[in-house]
Amino acid sequence: MTRHVAVALTLLSLLAISGTSSGSRATVDDVIRLPSQASNFFHPDNNNDEDGSSGTRWAVLIAGSNGYWNYRHQADVCHAYQLLRKGGLKEENIIVFMYDDIAHHRENPRPGVIINNPKGEDVYKGVPKDYTGDEVTVGNFFAVLLGNKTALTGGSGKVVDSGPNDHIFVYYTDHGGPGVLGMPTNPYLYADDLIDVLKKKHASGTYKSLVFYLEACESGSIFEGLLPEGLNIYATTASNADESSWGTYCPGETPSPPPEYETCLGDLYSIAWMEDSDIHNLKTETLHQQYELVKKRTAPGNSYGSHVMQYGDIGLSQQDLFRYLGTNPANDNFTFVEENLLKLPSAKAVNQRDADLIHFWDKYRKAPEGSARKVQAQKDFVEAMSHRMHIDHSVKLIGKLLFGIEKGPEVLGAVRPAGQPLVDNWDCLKEMVRTFETHCGSLSQYGMKHMRALANICNAGIQKEQMAEASAQSCASFPSGPWSSLAKGFSA
Ligand SMILES: *[C@@H]1O[C@H](CO)[C@@H](O)[C@H](O)[C@H]1NC(C)=O
Ligand SMILES: *[C@@H]1O[C@H](CO)[C@@H](O)[C@H](O)[C@H]1NC(C)=O
Repeated sequence: MTRHVAVALTLLSLLAISGTSSGSRATVDDVIRLPSQASNFFHPDNNNDEDGSSGTRWAVLIAGSNGYWNYRHQADVCHAYQLLRKGGLKEENIIVFMYDDIAHHRENPRPGVIINNPKGEDVYKGVPKDYTGDEVTVGNFFAVLLGNKTALTGGSGKVVDSGPNDHIFVYYTDHGGPGVLGMPTNPYLYADDLIDVLKKKHASGTYKSLVFYLEACESGSIFEGLLPEGLNIYATTASNADESSWGTYCPGETPSPPPEYETCLGDLYSIAWMEDSDIHNLKTETLHQQYELVKKRTAPGNSYGSHVMQYGDIGLSQQDLFRYLGTNPANDNFTFVEENLLKLPSAKAVNQRDADLIHFWDKYRKAPEGSARKVQAQKDFVEAMSHRMHIDHSVKLIGKLLFGIEKGPEVLGAVRPAGQPLVDNWDCLKEMVRTFETHCGSLSQYGMKHMRALANICNAGIQKEQMAEASAQSCASFPSGPWSSLAKGFSA
């Protein structure tokens, strides 16, 4: 019903516009058209080659995590895949990175099925296994973006083999920290390397424009002061450079997942752009309109939410989503109108970094008294907590050793003004990460939050030897739990 009302409203507003703007080149004929053609009315240029129909649409989708408590990232990516297929993209043009340990995980209450919404249908069916398990690496991600098959290790061999008229959509969802994005493998993905790859791709002249949607904690820091204009890249991020992003459809929140799910099903920014794209004719909605909608739906409330940001060539956001995502013909009559954008349900959310604890806690709460499952859940919870305390404590202590009791917290916590990158010397940052991990154990998913502290240690001119000494003093030993071990190698 509401959709019909929305369609009627669009027609009305089209008529109203034609009546008031005498300078418009629209004739009455132009106005009495299907609402699905409204984008042509607002963007007359779309009638020529500019609608992107001459180029191929490519997409790279990547979930940077693994583990059942991170269910939501792979659910997001599967959902994005279904959306793009319904939009008309071909399987050969969509490259999927996902660890693929969720659908058949023993904790999954619906074996072989992944959902991204409490009432959602299966989004796992048909998703290609291009790069799974230990093939989900930074190296493969870059090789795929650059279309360089010889640089691949394993995987399906699919790459973005794009030409100068093509449009590329990249969507990444995971944990992150200042200047860094997580990966299920080591090393993690650092902002400077990503920007270098984007510049290389641009220099190769193999796309017309590229849109990057990024969900992670502190995701703004990946582009802030780093992504230049002129690369024909438009990026939006779930959060600014200095705040968490949020998981949603989590146990105990509203709306909550079906009771048998002890994990979050989605992420706030991600479901905002996808649930909007699912229901509209994307020829009638611009990137900018979606940015505004997602910004509203993700906005900070009393206890959760983040600031959605945009970077790069902002002018590209006047283009239709259709150019990147295609559009589902079933939505042809569902024009995007501002009036209905807030009809999307608001959802409560959980800090990305606490979603693992929510999982262990919910599992503990529901397990029968005295069961092995309860004991395991408690052990997992305690291990995750003690890893956090160990990391937080070590970083704080290192700061005090390097800068003094008073100054330490101040130096480590300093945030640079907007427009400036996190750190000037990225090699130094990576060196500091390796030095810290040598003495204190793996930063891991949670520890990425301290990347700003390590960056500030570089910005303050601290040398590697001083850092090594302070780290050795702070961490006489490191806990042996899975979170702390260095079994997988350094994260930088
Ligand atoms: C592709 O990757 C290989 C191996 O890393 C490298 O030697 C080569 O220069 C790359 N090719 C291009 C065109 O960048
Ligand atoms: C859109 O509306 C027109 C006119 O009512 C109708 O003929 C057409 O089947 C509709 N398209 C879809 C996909 O529902």
